[in-house]
Amino acid sequence: MREASTEPSAQAARPFRSAVVPAAGLGTRFLPTTKTVPKELLPVVDTPGIELVAAEAAEAGAEQLLIVTSPGKDAIAAHFADSSELEKELQARGKEKLIAKVRRAHELITVRTVTQDEPKGLGHAVGCARDAIGDDEEAFAVLLPDDLVLPTGVLAKMAKVREQHGGSVLCAFDVPREQISAYGVFEVTDTADDDVKRVHGMVEKPAPDEAPSTYAAAGRYLLDRTIFDALDRITPGAGGELQLTDAVALLISEGHPVHVVVHRGGRHDLGNPGGYARAFVDFALEDPDYGPDLRAWLAARLNG
Ligand code: G1P
Repeated sequence: MREASTEPSAQAARPFRSAVVPAAGLGTRFLPTTKTVPKELLPVVDTPGIELVAAEAAEAGAEQLLIVTSPGKDAIAAHFADSSELEKELQARGKEKLIAKVRRAHELITVRTVTQDEPKGLGHAVGCARDAIGDDEEAFAVLLPDDLVLPTGVLAKMAKVREQHGGSVLCAFDVPREQISAYGVFEVTDTADDDVKRVHGMVEKPAPDEAPSTYAAAGRYLLDRTIFDALDRITPGAGGELQLTDAVALLISEGHPVHVVVHRGGRHDLGNPGGYARAFVDFALEDPDYGPDLRAWLAARLNG
């Protein structure tokens, strides 16, 4: 039995209450599927990517998930809605295991959606969540649903770094320089902890020879609410969009402390079919039902 007295209260342990998940994009790289199906609902084995991200946010202590969607993507909110009709049907058929699977998204975390009417960039999308975040919330998380950061747990480490250094904390991956121009890139110096770097600048999608390092933003942010003020002051940047990176860079230039936690584990990019295929295969190989068969087939397929 658990000893309740030795556990910190959930409130004290909660580093942030809200987690913002920008999911308003058109998903052009997944056309024609994304004509009708939001890319965030594409399954990784049997679970939509956005449910994996919601589970990560809940595990890190978030109470509410603020999903930023665009008109026509109502299926995302529907995935997190009450599913008692379907559950009744499954109950009648004696499918207990499936009931638990179906219920999970609804029970994980409270979900609210906010609408981004125009595709003006990631910075603009995060700004759309402002009114849904309580005035007393000093910091909030942002999780990009294209990025799976594995194993989960990096948000907890980021929260510890914020406790220690204040300000905002982001997650970084060390990527090969030839791939760096797909990312927001950090200019860093070391701290006493090899996995924590102080950030002195940040630039969105630099050319490889202009990138200040090979540390790339990996889709997890723990942002001080002063970011909203910075988001109001930036102008369109890379790709003509309002970039979250530029708001972070503006805060840094004004002395706001920013650190990164360098994640040394795995990562999947669900934002394009190639990365999605890898993620699907990786998760399926670990699945007790599908893994053994897939492994044998893959081995034969690769030798064939
Ligand atoms: C976004 C961010 C970028 C970050 C990347 C991580 O870019 O703008 O800073 O490194 O996500 O996946 P996008 O992939 O939307 O072009």
